[in-house]
Amino acid sequence: MAGSRYNGGVSFRTRDFRRPDFETLWRIDQACFDPQLAYSRLELAFYMRRPGAFTLVAESEGGELAGDGDSPRRILGFIVAEARRKTGHIITIDVVAEARRGGVGTGLLLAAERRLQQAGAVVVELETPVNNATAIRFYKQMGYFVEKTVTGYYSNQMDALVMRKELEIVARG
Ligand SMILES: CC(C)(COP(=O)(O)OP(=O)(O)OC[C@H]1O[C@@H](n2cnc3c(N)ncnc32)[C@H](O)[C@@H]1OP(=O)(O)O)[C@@H](O)C(=O)NCCC(=O)NCCS
Repeated sequence: MAGSRYNGGVSFRTRDFRRPDFETLWRIDQACFDPQLAYSRLELAFYMRRPGAFTLVAESEGGELAGDGDSPRRILGFIVAEARRKTGHIITIDVVAEARRGGVGTGLLLAAERRLQQAGAVVVELETPVNNATAIRFYKQMGYFVEKTVTGYYSNQMDALVMRKELEIVARG
């Protein structure tokens, strides 16, 4: 059926990052990207602490992807974003492989867009490697358009697509 989910068993909620989450987020990032693109701990911490930056975490609410032991919660993904005046920027979005196609990425990106809107952003921009077909399809599905290609953007000289989405203007408060 069109629009059906491959991964229907994902029940999650989004919340703000807490310090003890950091090592888990870094490990998720290491698993999501090849070594040339994954952040070092210092790089991840640097982006998360930049002025205007915030990090949201998606955690499971039990079900198949529950945490170990007594905890029903397990971190399934996270997003780092940054408000730069009227332009929001997605720094990274990472979902653990087992939870993909279950709506976690959508939930994180929508929550970050809402936060950016509240900070006064009217547009959101991001970069993605030209060969990351999954991310490109995901962002297009979320309403992003390709703005331009930046040659040699990444440290491994891979080109990046800059993608952009206009947000509806909302009342601040
Ligand atoms: C890109 C990513 C964040 C998407 O997260 P996700 O939780 O799987 O996304 P969702 O389940 O919310 O998917 C929403 C829609 O995006 C599209 N999509 C997502 N993954 C897709 C895939 N592998 N193939 C085709 N379309 C895909 C689909 O339209 C999907 O809707 P559907 O499942 O109802 O068809 C995840 O694949 C990921 O973490 N990848 C590794 C890290 C990465 O590349 N991050 C982007 C950095 S630029």
